[in-house]
Amino acid sequence: MTPEEASAEIIKTLVAQARMAAGDFQIDGAVVTIPAAFNQMQCEATMRSAAAAGLNKVALLQEPIAAAMASISHSKNKNGQFLVYDLGGGTFDAAIVQTVSSSATVIAHAGINMLGGRDFDRAILNSVVRPWLLENFDLSDDFQKDVAYQRLIRVAQYRAELSKIALSTQTRDRIFADESQIGARDRDGKEIYLDVEISRDELDSFVVEEIDRSINLCRKLILDSGYRNEDIDRVVLIGGPSRMPIVRERIGSQLGTLFTFVRKGTLLPKSGAERFRASRDFRSGDGGCLEFEVYQQAEDISDPSLNLPVGAFRLFSNNLEKGDVIRKGDPVVVHWSIDENGLLDSNLEFTEISQTYNTGKMYVSAEGDRIRSDR
Ligand SMILES: Nc1ncnc2c1ncn2[C@@H]1O[C@H](COP(=O)(O)OP(=O)(O)OP(=O)(O)O)[C@@H](O)[C@H]1O
Ligand SMILES: [Mg+2]
Repeated sequence: MTPEEASAEIIKTLVAQARMAAGDFQIDGAVVTIPAAFNQMQCEATMRSAAAAGLNKVALLQEPIAAAMASISHSKNKNGQFLVYDLGGGTFDAAIVQTVSSSATVIAHAGINMLGGRDFDRAILNSVVRPWLLENFDLSDDFQKDVAYQRLIRVAQYRAELSKIALSTQTRDRIFADESQIGARDRDGKEIYLDVEISRDELDSFVVEEIDRSINLCRKLILDSGYRNEDIDRVVLIGGPSRMPIVRERIGSQLGTLFTFVRKGTLLPKSGAERFRASRDFRSGDGGCLEFEVYQQAEDISDPSLNLPVGAFRLFSNNLEKGDVIRKGDPVVVHWSIDENGLLDSNLEFTEISQTYNTGKMYVSAEGDRIRSDR
């Protein structure tokens, strides 16, 4: 069976399901979504599959456009730039979609072919399940290669995936399978079972680097398209693993507000003020922390991961006056100045609570290779 024929079979099944759901309604057309990266040949092949499945009228719609349209269908403001962040089972796709008077275009897209939920399952398997098995049973170090343990690996993989999904809504889970489900013995003849705990923190530690890699790609996509993070009106999260709380957290903190204060070659001293908005509620004593990070932009500005961290300022909820609340959307004005020696000083002004916090001085070196924070 060719991929085209397989695709036709899938479309047939979906159409049959849709017809059932719609009460035997005649269906002769469909909108088929395709990855933004599909070329002309792939689009034509998709059209042929749909025709082979018996559909007469077919329209192709790029996946990120479908996601952006679904996301704005209930919102009042339908115009703007959207970052569509699609973390799937095996691939990561990012796209910037622009909508102007109800027509949407993919401005740019990028992806990572080998990044997705399956990698996270594998990480759980290798870092949690495997060590537990080796500790509790008499197994050789390369037992995973042994055909006698194929079922064990399959069951473990499946249970690891279930736990990964469970950890999107709870902070702990148990990876469990009894002897009958596994049907294998160790070298001592002991029947193998699985019963191992995993916490969300552990899972986060396995995936955070990969998630940051996906976010760095988004930053690069935004910059390469001539935008700044603040130009993105909304981030649309799709794909199963995007439901992991850490994805939201990292996107919030990493994509929040990367802003260029001073471009290379600017004559110093220089000062200015930029207005931002709080991305979430923040109140005195809630245990939270607001981070303000300063980077020196690398020569190759299209790769933000090369940026040099210059310093960071953290405003802890305990630093707020008792009873003070900063609400999501409240203005945060950053007043900054850089003297002729590259000493950066800034104040964060929260106008709603009439408070200003000094970030301390940070040193931005002209050469860009020495970093020092003068706090
Ligand atoms: N609530 C959840 N939390 C974490 N992961 C989840 C959740 N629900 C599903 N997943 C994971 O999402 C993955 C499947 O996602 P999705 O359906 O978006 O992929 P896909 O579109 O089939 O794959 P791709 O886009 O890579 O071709 C699986 O790895 C699954 O374990
Ligand atoms: Mg997908």
